[in-house]
Amino acid sequence: MSQPLQGKVALVTGGSRGLGAATARALADSGADVAITYISSADKAAEVVKELEGRGVQATAFQMDQADTAQAPQLIDDVVARFGGLDILVNNAALGESGRTIDDPDADVAALDRMHATNYTGVIAIIRAAAKAMRDNGRIVNIGSGIGSRVGLPGFADYAATKAGLLGYTKGAARDLAPRGITVNMVQAGLMQTDMAPPSPEALKAMVSNLSIQRLSDPAETAAAITFLASPAASYITGAVLDSNGGYTA
Ligand SMILES: NC(=O)c1ccc[n+]([C@@H]2O[C@H](COP(=O)([O-])OP(=O)(O)OC[C@H]3O[C@@H](n4cnc5c(N)ncnc54)[C@H](OP(=O)(O)O)[C@@H]3O)[C@@H](O)[C@H]2O)c1
Repeated sequence: MSQPLQGKVALVTGGSRGLGAATARALADSGADVAITYISSADKAAEVVKELEGRGVQATAFQMDQADTAQAPQLIDDVVARFGGLDILVNNAALGESGRTIDDPDADVAALDRMHATNYTGVIAIIRAAAKAMRDNGRIVNIGSGIGSRVGLPGFADYAATKAGLLGYTKGAARDLAPRGITVNMVQAGLMQTDMAPPSPEALKAMVSNLSIQRLSDPAETAAAITFLASPAASYITGAVLDSNGGYTA
């Protein structure tokens, strides 16, 4: 197998399950050493680390709460101390939507604050800390959602706002970091078979009927798009959005 990422160090947030774990595997298959983060799934994170080591690369899991922006600089320091540098950052960890409409009496502000802290301000804190430490010609890939561009059904306003905000940040960061050869792009993922399930079978049915390719995706399909943007082959792509969402946004 070709190893275009050999000698590179990657950090994948939320690598203990779902798309993050699939991305960590794909980056390791391309030769990168991989750090992952998790918040509470210590056993799953340890399993992923074991799998990555079995692929012949170095790997470590770091426990942290992305919603606490103060933890971001320490995370980056820990990655650099463990691996000697940082070349690739995949901002994957996020919370999904409750499916409640904004006028639902149970749609509480605490949950809204937690989602924005995890999906938006926490990600930005990691990008800012990583940008200082990252080597030239690095790669930042932010994971968005088709819902950030086109909501398509009720109950997703809060989540859509976090992903749309991150899209704007992706473009601004791309401008700021281009002089160092660091690219910043977004992959807008779609419906995947992970623990972040849509809130109800009705919502799932409605979402699948909105797709051009009418099925859920395997996270490995989106991990392949992320790995491409993380590779040397994507050196002239920055500030871009790559939709890996079955044509939801078509
Ligand atoms: N699933 C979909 O259909 C879908 C669709 C479009 C876009 N996306 C996007 O794709 C990405 C991955 O989604 P997924 O479905 O793979 O999610 P998932 O299966 O729910 O996994 C979430 C990951 O994020 C970690 N995490 C959550 N909160 C955290 C926090 N505060 N601090 C640190 N880590 C935290 C979790 O760690 P623990 O295991 O420790 O909890 C886990 O590793 C997200 O950005 C999501 O918005 C997903």
